[in-house]
Amino acid sequence: MKSSLMSDYFDTRYPCITDLEKKAKGRMPAFAYDYLTEGCMSDECVKRNKKSLAQVQLRGNVLEPFEGVNMETDIFGHKYSAPFGVAPVGLQGLMWPKTPEYLAKAACEKNIPFVLSTVSSASLENIAYISEGKAWFQLYNPSSREVQADLIARVQSAGYPVLVVTVDVSTFGYRPRDIRNGLAMPPKMSVRNVFQMLSRPHWLIKTAFAGKPEMKVLKRYMMHSEKNEQLMEFMNRAVMGPVDYENLKSIRDLWKGPLVIKGILTEEDVKLAVSLGADAVVVSNHGGRQLDAAESPIEPLQRLSQKYRKSIMFFMDSGIQNGVNIASALAAGARLAFMGRAFAFGVSALGERGAYHTINLFYQQLEQVMNQLRCDSTEKMTNHLVK
Ligand SMILES: Cc1cc2nc3c(=O)[nH]c(=O)nc-3n(C[C@H](O)[C@H](O)[C@H](O)COP(=O)(O)O)c2cc1C
Repeated sequence: MKSSLMSDYFDTRYPCITDLEKKAKGRMPAFAYDYLTEGCMSDECVKRNKKSLAQVQLRGNVLEPFEGVNMETDIFGHKYSAPFGVAPVGLQGLMWPKTPEYLAKAACEKNIPFVLSTVSSASLENIAYISEGKAWFQLYNPSSREVQADLIARVQSAGYPVLVVTVDVSTFGYRPRDIRNGLAMPPKMSVRNVFQMLSRPHWLIKTAFAGKPEMKVLKRYMMHSEKNEQLMEFMNRAVMGPVDYENLKSIRDLWKGPLVIKGILTEEDVKLAVSLGADAVVVSNHGGRQLDAAESPIEPLQRLSQKYRKSIMFFMDSGIQNGVNIASALAAGARLAFMGRAFAFGVSALGERGAYHTINLFYQQLEQVMNQLRCDSTEKMTNHLVK
């Protein structure tokens, strides 16, 4: 893909993800901000993810010869420009219209992985086109076998190279703010929601032009009568059932390319992923959205990757806010770090340019950390962890 004029975009007013979050909050309706930022129950896990990452310490030998940083990372036969990517986030059209389209395009241009969610507001065929066949697809295993086979066939024929199966959503997370807001797609026209939308005129105009947000990947599987029903019910019933070993085996049989299992935190699950023939696991607690008491992934990642890295590749997400957090994940054994909310803040704050800004922000920050550590390649980051 040719570089666009936006490729190097970096707005010095927003050097941190917290700056983008603040700006985004003022531009999106409160129900969309709640959906994006909420964890579950009391949001303890969201806080713990950040705290655990902040406790990681890194060190480097400052007197060793050093010729500069190379951030390129080989994953499944593709050389990416940086060891981080865009995690799958559903219903992004609620936060800012065209978020998945903007992120997929920027990720393709900057040569980092972008993962499209099953419950995306973008069409999977269009994202494959925009990303020139480079985007990965995240699957919530549909409860119907027919839908499962049809969806995987669509993903395959659209040319997605990698399938990421999310396994940590056995039930829909209990999220008090979403419950209060009556989260729905398109948004419910309650007095409260309408007021929130009217108070964000920029979002409203952009949404009017983009068309009402809907779940484009799954639209064809929803009954007509279901279109306006409570979103949580539809997702819970149709696409977010528990995924057991048998389900995964049938997915493994259907999907011929690299398979990633997302949402694993224990040794037993890593062993099952290995025995299934999966190519990678994402050590993740879903950004704290499923179990408020969940372990933060940075801790299990280190011991699991040490023991199993010869059998399977490790990726990590949940709570990553900056380049030093990415470096910490790599140091603990991840080959790729993924961020969810951070990229959504970027686009909600700055529109299409925000996709490039956020990638460039993470790139600059990680480069600085690696230079400081005098670490010349991402694979050597494990040498820099203070045990
Ligand atoms: C609003 C929101 C929606 C999400 N939707 C999905 C999804 O559709 N599929 C999925 O596998 N993970 C989903 N996730 C989890 C992310 O892929 C990722 O695990 C998480 O965002 C990482 O934490 P972070 O936001 O702190 O970076 C979602 C996360 C958020 C915040």
